[in-house]
Amino acid sequence: MASQNILLLPGDGIGPEVTTAAQRVINWFGKHGTTKFEIESDLVGGAAYDAHGVAVTDAAVKRAFEADAILFGAVGGPKWDDVPYEHRPEAGLLRLRKDLDLFANLRPAICYPALANASSLKKEVVEGLDILILRELTGGTYFGEPKEIVTLENGDKRAVDTQVYTTPEIARIARVAFELARTRSNKVTSMEKHNVMRSGVLWKEVVINVYETEGYGDVQLEHMLADAGGMQLVRNPKQFDVIVTDNLFGDLLSDVASMLTGSLGMLPSASLGSPDEKTGKRYSLYEPVHGSAPDITGKGIANPIAMIASFGMCLRYSFGMISEADMLDKAISAALASGARTSDIADGGNAMGTTEMADAIIAELESLA
Ligand code: IPM
Ligand code: MN
Repeated sequence: MASQNILLLPGDGIGPEVTTAAQRVINWFGKHGTTKFEIESDLVGGAAYDAHGVAVTDAAVKRAFEADAILFGAVGGPKWDDVPYEHRPEAGLLRLRKDLDLFANLRPAICYPALANASSLKKEVVEGLDILILRELTGGTYFGEPKEIVTLENGDKRAVDTQVYTTPEIARIARVAFELARTRSNKVTSMEKHNVMRSGVLWKEVVINVYETEGYGDVQLEHMLADAGGMQLVRNPKQFDVIVTDNLFGDLLSDVASMLTGSLGMLPSASLGSPDEKTGKRYSLYEPVHGSAPDITGKGIANPIAMIASFGMCLRYSFGMISEADMLDKAISAALASGARTSDIADGGNAMGTTEMADAIIAELESLA
């Protein structure tokens, strides 16, 4: 029997609650399929800081390297507002992304038919939406050096973050964009700000170069300034298929896109590295786009769909279990169609809790099986 080893990193806030819900779905597939899932868990974020004084331990990073895939909840919260910058909860996630070289972050934004009314945008604008934001995840402003606050001679302070990209970094994410587009509607929109940023000039140049020299001419490629792209995302989001953009713009634009789907609680993501040249192994981490949501932590009302759909992406991209992934997507869609709603997507009516939403999805899996 095939076996996959999953490292669970629930993290902080609602992270553990939605991870528990996802774990029940994993167990369901373990019981009903041909693949066994070995699950380990470890601490990350504020939880790791409280226990070990760091946002992720070397031992947890080692386990991350050893796992077949990582399922990550959320990190951060007001409790850790005053911890030293290098130990803030987010540092744990950033270290995992960087150490495992998870440069390609796939953030699909799908508006389920049953949720077209839950978006803050008009139903016609979002109904049937199916786009993919591909965010570069290991470069740009997040990691560029220098990154510092220095005190000047006159006592003023000066803060610096560095936006930096090299040709290979841009080329490899562009390739992923074109490859993904071919499995979808075959269109890529590249977003940068070449009108004010040198990194934007290079970004556009390299994307065009990969397009022209590596045989991607069958894909439709367009370029948009990232600010205009943000506007177009809320004006007419269905014009897009794959949007490829840098780390910081991708962070902003994917939060915007999440609201097109009804709620931030709906958006899953996959962070992928390149397959290893020798072993073929590709490191991967799956996480909901939503954060730790301190305001609703512990209430049992968090929407687990983004987390459960992140496991669906894990089935698809790490384990090659395409029919199981399709089945899980169908079960989520069916649960929503039958009226299952957590409070973030409930339209006035009765809302269910995290556990009940997981129950509803598992019930649909049962009837699909
Ligand atoms: C995300 C999050 C992270 C980011 C934080 C938690 C570091 O907002 O995954 O979008 O900014 O990348
Ligand atoms: Mn974000």
